Amino acid sequence: MRLNRRTSATVAGAALVGLALTACGGGGDDGGGGTDETGGGDASEVEVFTWWAAGSEKAGLDALVGVFEEQHPDTEFVNGAVAGGAGSAAKDLLQTRLQAQDPPDTFQAHAGAELQDYIDAAQIEDVSDLYDEFGLTDAFPADLVDRLSTEDGAIYSIPSNIHRANVVWANPTVLEDNGVDPEATYDDLDAWMADLDKLQDAGVTPLSVATTWTQVHLLETVLLADLGAEAYSGLWDGSTDWEGSEVTAALEDFEQLMGYTNSDRDGLDWPEATQMVIDGQAAFNVMGDWAVAAFEEQDKKPGDDYTYFPVPGSDGTFDFLADSFTLPVGAPHPGGAKAWLETVGSAEGQEAFNKAKGSIPARTDVDMSTFGEYQQSAAEAFGSDTIVSSLAHGAAAPVATLNAISDATSKFTTGASDLAAYQSELAAAAQG
Ligand code: GAL
Repeated sequence: MRLNRRTSATVAGAALVGLALTACGGGGDDGGGGTDETGGGDASEVEVFTWWAAGSEKAGLDALVGVFEEQHPDTEFVNGAVAGGAGSAAKDLLQTRLQAQDPPDTFQAHAGAELQDYIDAAQIEDVSDLYDEFGLTDAFPADLVDRLSTEDGAIYSIPSNIHRANVVWANPTVLEDNGVDPEATYDDLDAWMADLDKLQDAGVTPLSVATTWTQVHLLETVLLADLGAEAYSGLWDGSTDWEGSEVTAALEDFEQLMGYTNSDRDGLDWPEATQMVIDGQAAFNVMGDWAVAAFEEQDKKPGDDYTYFPVPGSDGTFDFLADSFTLPVGAPHPGGAKAWLETVGSAEGQEAFNKAKGSIPARTDVDMSTFGEYQQSAAEAFGSDTIVSSLAHGAAAPVATLNAISDATSKFTTGASDLAAYQSELAAAAQG
């Protein structure tokens, strides 16, 4: 499938958004704690549940909170962030809270299969009337809204951003110092692994990785690179055989790639693995484009201090994920949640948040010219590439499937299963 980003991000469009915001009271006052201009429920505070607890991710959240505090000064922001990249700890805790009827006022959820889990469990409300109220109906790519909706037109969250998962980040100095051309381009994983071999022989860590979810992230990009967009997507709709020889070959590549990685990986999360490249302790890291925010936060310059390219073999494909925010059933401060959702969906909120987060706005009318070089290239790629759904970040498969794939991957990468067993376990996991 393709998600087409409308590229009419014109000055006129931005001006219109400004008008719309004024008209719907986006910069306005809530009229005192406990009241709600959006039409229902306690707006005195909002507990926002995310996993953006530290570093550049927290900086992204802080930027969004800055806009929220301007737009809704009478609603207190309560930070419910739970540390752990990709929601590795947050999602379980959230489930416990939802099942105990103790929801936060709003929580982060990925567009696609993960959001569908919450919809199926009747844990979140239809917010389509907020799309009307906030003027969001045409603000997002139609295909993205489809991934937030049910067939009867109910929409269950408001997207904050679009991230790309299939990106390699590199330290050009480490490459140069170890006999690898920093400008090299690679048609496929084999070509890339020839240079990873050189780096390994030179005694540097060729590829940094962290704990299980980052290994699953690497796995999905390898599957994408080796199978191609169509067959990769077929892994999630049953049309690609998980037991087939193409998957076996991809798993062999995954195994080889894991052989180039740091041995302390299971004790690290993504910021430490990306930091190894920033600090020159590793040559490459495969990570979603939230990584660019870590480089930028440390004043690193693209080209000189770091380079980036699609995972070899996946050029022309955008491995997509989007964060979105929900209105949980039984939220204690629904007025606060609606105020938060208004800021999340606003052009001002999306611009501030995404500049700090490394992602591109989900809104199609934000002017990208003031964004960094990487983000401008991501917006362009999103407009022209084939879009596929990320596994590790909730777009492609339900949480239960992802959890089973993660368990199988951890067994494999810690030496508790061989490749044949791993492949069968993945096949079983994908069947649900
Ligand atoms: C993803 C999330 C991103 C980023 C990343 C690392 O699942 O969508 O916004 O936070 O995890 O934690």
